[in-house]
Amino acid sequence: MTAALSDLVVVSNRLPVDVSPGPDGSLVHGRSPGGLVTALEPVLSQRSGAWVGWPGAPGLTFDPISLDGIWSVPVPLSPHEISNYYEGFSNATLWPLYHDVITRPEYHREWHEAYRTVNAKFAEAAAGAVAKGGTVWVHDYQLQLVPSMVKQLRPDVKVGFFNHIPFPPEALFAQLPWRREILMGLLGADLIGFQRAQDAGNFRSCVRRLTGLTTRGHHVLVRESDGSVRDVMCSAFPISIDSAAVDSRARLPRVQARAREIRSELGNPDRILFGVDRLDYTKGISHRLKAYEELLREGRLHVPGVVMVQVASPSRDNVSAYQSLRDDVETTVGRIAGDFGSLGSPAIHYLHQNQDADEMAALYLAADVMLVTALRDGMNLVAKEYVASRVDGRGALVLSEFTGAADELRQAILVNPHDIDGLKGSILRAVAMNPKEQRRRMQALRRRVIENDVSAWATSFLGALADR
Ligand code: G6P
Repeated sequence: MTAALSDLVVVSNRLPVDVSPGPDGSLVHGRSPGGLVTALEPVLSQRSGAWVGWPGAPGLTFDPISLDGIWSVPVPLSPHEISNYYEGFSNATLWPLYHDVITRPEYHREWHEAYRTVNAKFAEAAAGAVAKGGTVWVHDYQLQLVPSMVKQLRPDVKVGFFNHIPFPPEALFAQLPWRREILMGLLGADLIGFQRAQDAGNFRSCVRRLTGLTTRGHHVLVRESDGSVRDVMCSAFPISIDSAAVDSRARLPRVQARAREIRSELGNPDRILFGVDRLDYTKGISHRLKAYEELLREGRLHVPGVVMVQVASPSRDNVSAYQSLRDDVETTVGRIAGDFGSLGSPAIHYLHQNQDADEMAALYLAADVMLVTALRDGMNLVAKEYVASRVDGRGALVLSEFTGAADELRQAILVNPHDIDGLKGSILRAVAMNPKEQRRRMQALRRRVIENDVSAWATSFLGALADR
């Protein structure tokens, strides 16, 4: 089969497919689950859509294939490209720069060169897959040059871009040696979406200060080479989750039984404190552990009355900042376990593993206190998943004010994770919260997450793009 041209082409660094060897040694492809795919699946299959992305392993490629009515178009990356474009420029330059320089961004010309080359590969694949007058929707910081590259190759198509992570203030963004190129790359789009109004505002002020272009309200006016002016809209479209699917999973008898089993496996403590994150320095895992350790040391929390579970899913482990973070986190976990646990009653359970969706739902249901202490996070979908899972109206959410989710989830206990004393106070408040208050807050949180789900998000972005 050859891929037909598609009315709607989604482009993201990772292609949402599972690739594994089949019984005869050939590659079997299945769709990998995830919020973005679930949201886009109905609209992509209606519009004989395509998804362009990297299959996730060095050198891996295959012919475009149709999965659940959507064409998957692979962009293969060599080991050199993975190291310079993905681990280097995307995750050791842009990622820390866009997350408040929590670790120091590295600027290397050869990484930037690979970023440009790989962005061109993605743009060519997208331009080759889209039908005349169709739409290309580009996702995230790995692909910021793709919008203008696609526009150049295919002036007939509409281009949208959505940035899943924060966009930094001008004072930080100005460090980037290739700042103008990135801004102009993004401005190839007709609509640029951000998580928070603050991110869209940061982007527009970077444009004003660093390109000399003018802005009017949410719009940037781009002067084209033929003298015409193109209007690019830049606003906030806060992403969400497939709330109904998360809610239904949490109602499954097998999930509820597993939640009870987890509680009993943990020794039926009064309170389970829970954190789940990609093992990333933006997530504030060390701050959370420090607060917990001090509360135990000061005798304000006691094992086995409380127990912490921290799931840290493996991430970007070839990037050195992630390796040092892992060392730090595991040293602290070891100290907490050694100082405060006893045989059969550990103070902390630490899992450096991915968990499947049922196990995650059961953990959310078992967690009395959910700790989301990110130092900076575009949205934080864990906070929304916790809320959508609490079909019983119980549980307390401690949520960092530096997440996009904090703009919407106002009934959480909002914290500044840098303020360890404040964080400790908030953890104690969450531990002591009575069922009536838990219910009141959780009802308001659930209303918000159920109304604004990921399909409402996709519909509003694509609707605004169609209107451009
Ligand atoms: C964040 C980014 C995504 C990225 C994901 C996982 O959520 O916004 O673009 O795919 O992290 O990171 P990875 O590097 O494993 O793709």
